[in-house]
Amino acid sequence: MFENLQKELDDLEARGLRRICRQVEAVEGARIRMDGRWLLHFSSNGYLGLARHPAVVAAAEEAAARYGTGSGSARLIGGNLPPHEELERELARFKQAEDCLLFSTGYMASLGIITALTGPEDLVVGDRLNHASLIDACRLSGAALRVYPHSDADRLEEVLKERRGRYRRAMVVTEGVFSMDGDLPPLPRIAEITRRHDAWLLVDDAHGTGVFGEQGRGSLEHFGMETKEILQMGTLSKALGSQGGYLAGPRAAVELLRNRARSFIYTTAPAPACSAAALAALQVVRREPDLRRRLWENVRRWTSGLEGLGWDLISKTSPIVPVRVGGNRETMALAKALEEAGLYAPAIRPPTVPEGSARIRTSLTSLHTAGDLEEALGAFKKCLQTS
Ligand SMILES: Cc1ncc(COP(=O)(O)O)c(C=O)c1O
Repeated sequence: MFENLQKELDDLEARGLRRICRQVEAVEGARIRMDGRWLLHFSSNGYLGLARHPAVVAAAEEAAARYGTGSGSARLIGGNLPPHEELERELARFKQAEDCLLFSTGYMASLGIITALTGPEDLVVGDRLNHASLIDACRLSGAALRVYPHSDADRLEEVLKERRGRYRRAMVVTEGVFSMDGDLPPLPRIAEITRRHDAWLLVDDAHGTGVFGEQGRGSLEHFGMETKEILQMGTLSKALGSQGGYLAGPRAAVELLRNRARSFIYTTAPAPACSAAALAALQVVRREPDLRRRLWENVRRWTSGLEGLGWDLISKTSPIVPVRVGGNRETMALAKALEEAGLYAPAIRPPTVPEGSARIRTSLTSLHTAGDLEEALGAFKKCLQTS
């Protein structure tokens, strides 16, 4: 009965596209142990190392002891626990928005936001490199979906000019920092075009939050933008070291989501320990700007080191530093060689990225020391000599 599934798996294997989840035996600082070996860890989105920060861990432990390990029911049924309400208030303040709603993951935030705010009479226009959760949400919403070339604001404007008038609502969707490319879109221009064409702007700042801007508020702060009318979505699972998703934005939008977002309504509230951890992480982001300074110093050292060795970087503007390879098999071979040389960084292949653009995605954290980076550059140097 399941034979054709095996064929599908064999086909993935043959094309160099089979994926597996590796077993992680331990993590310590910027090192990860797999198959009995400690490797330099260049695959974490925990940009500030907060998942292990003592204040964040203590907040999670205390919330679990006080409120239990699970929330027990959906919030519209069982109510809010204090960590949910406090985190929503704090996130709204941090993102300079009127209100905020938590979801159990960033993926669920995408689904809930886009499907509740748009439907078959509406238009959604998205960047070609948007994250899978945004694409899935657009499809599920039933809205007409148009895609513009990556970061191409002129093309976005043409689409809106041509099509906006035919629809009830229009929403433009982009990431604040692109998860597999590490670059930022021209957000001020996109916001201006969006406003002029009477459309909403949804910015998924999963990778910008905690990292960009003087206060770590994210990509909008980085560009010095007014936040009031922007729908700011994000995840708690990256720089904030926890788990959960959110939308921060105008009160009416957030209140409508409380009533209409199915991935909020029909699921159990986030575990109180996760919300308490994220709340503590936000306080650390405010209290310890040094973490961010260290992270950016690492980004500078790493990108100039890799370029000095002759590697082709897809971008060097964020802690996500993808090294261009191209073919799937070559990329897998490079990932393997790097691992043999002591460095763990994932090979990213289609369908996560377009065909022919496979890459090694390295990501920096504030936990990497200057010595770690030197050692990691040594691994890349070794692979260059053998590739
Ligand atoms: C851009 C982007 N949006 C959304 C998500 C989903 O967030 P979560 O992991 O909290 O589901 C991710 C990563 O997982 C992401 O990279």
